[in-house]
Amino acid sequence: MAVPLRRTPTAGARDAPRPLWDAPRRRATVGGRSYAGSVTTTVRPEPGTRPDPWPDALSRARFHVVSGKGGTGKTTVAAALALALAGGGKRVLLVEVEGRQGIAQVFDTAPLPYEERRIAVAPGGGEVRALAVDAEAALLEYFEMFYRLGVAGRTLRRMGAIEFATTLAPGLRDVLLTGKAKECVTRTESDGLPAYDAVVLDAPPTGRLVSFLDVTRAMADLAKAGPIHGQAKGVEALIHSPLTAVHLVTLLSDLPVTETLDAAAELDAAGIPLGSVVVNRMREQWLPDRSVTAAAGGRVDATRIRNGLQSAGIELAPTEIDGLVAETVEHAVAVEGETAALRRLETEPTPPLPRLTLPALLGGVDLGSLYELAESMTAQGVHLEARR
Ligand SMILES: Nc1ncnc2c1ncn2[C@@H]1O[C@H](COP(=O)(O)OP(=O)(O)OP(=O)(O)O)[C@@H](O)[C@H]1O
Ligand SMILES: [Mg+2]
Repeated sequence: MAVPLRRTPTAGARDAPRPLWDAPRRRATVGGRSYAGSVTTTVRPEPGTRPDPWPDALSRARFHVVSGKGGTGKTTVAAALALALAGGGKRVLLVEVEGRQGIAQVFDTAPLPYEERRIAVAPGGGEVRALAVDAEAALLEYFEMFYRLGVAGRTLRRMGAIEFATTLAPGLRDVLLTGKAKECVTRTESDGLPAYDAVVLDAPPTGRLVSFLDVTRAMADLAKAGPIHGQAKGVEALIHSPLTAVHLVTLLSDLPVTETLDAAAELDAAGIPLGSVVVNRMREQWLPDRSVTAAAGGRVDATRIRNGLQSAGIELAPTEIDGLVAETVEHAVAVEGETAALRRLETEPTPPLPRLTLPALLGGVDLGSLYELAESMTAQGVHLEARR
């Protein structure tokens, strides 16, 4: 049975988390509209020494690829990262490639066309633009650029030839998608300055990541010369350079951590630079450290809880106390599991990977809370060196 842990603002012990009704309400501006956020973003202090979450090299990277196991929060983290990087007057492009309109959903806007659009204002005056890359549109853009196909290209599309080509050769699809992202990273404006300070890519999940990024391998048999081959070579140079950083989002449980460590090793073997591991949805710890192990083992003193509540003026029925005890045990077990997963991230790779931590937002992610996640990243050191 779920029983609220705190009934009144005065019921909290000294180290109890801030009550929800006390949470700061921050405002976010997107597309001229203003939104309020209402969650706390307290990140639990981590045991042990933590590697620098955002080493200097990352502030010089221009292509930030966000991947991770399915459902761990890639789109949410990519959006928050774009906001954090744009902070203080930068211009960042957030790109998605899976045709799922995930960016439009997190920013609560209409579906994105194949066109770069301003989607949010970052704290301190920066801006985030967004682009949903569509492989067919990218191929058409290609035909126009290299073969001036124009109408003929559009006819091909109507005939379904492009869909046919990209379905037949998934490597072709990937090289079109990554090629477009690369074009955005390297594009300069008429004054010779880069169009973007950085590009953040909401990438496919880890299982497909290396084959997605390492397009030249996939293209080796497909195109040995010509513009597509040139495109693949350009992508290859970018993703193996210090301009690229691949961030891996994980939750603190066994499977996603294993997948993260495997992906980190795979990227390393492919010579693709790793960024930070983003530990997402870390829960707030309600219990003091010294009580976690005992509580996880079922040792919770119900009498002490009842007396504590009584002294705060709260009378609960015995069944409610039982519910509280069960919830406490469940919470302690979860915290122990998370701590063990964290330890794996700390000890298995040598040296340990840079790591950012984001809190579990109560009530899910809305626009205001996206800004809070960005703020939490900024507080952990996420930033970009100015480029333009
Ligand atoms: N820190 C967080 N706190 C609470 N909820 C979160 C947090 N991060 C993400 N979520 C929620 O988790 C769900 C999955 O997040 P998201 O869509 O970003 O994951 P994903 O990895 O992009 O998923 P997919 O593999 O389907 O693309 C969403 O409902 C999102 O709102
Ligand atoms: Mg997603």
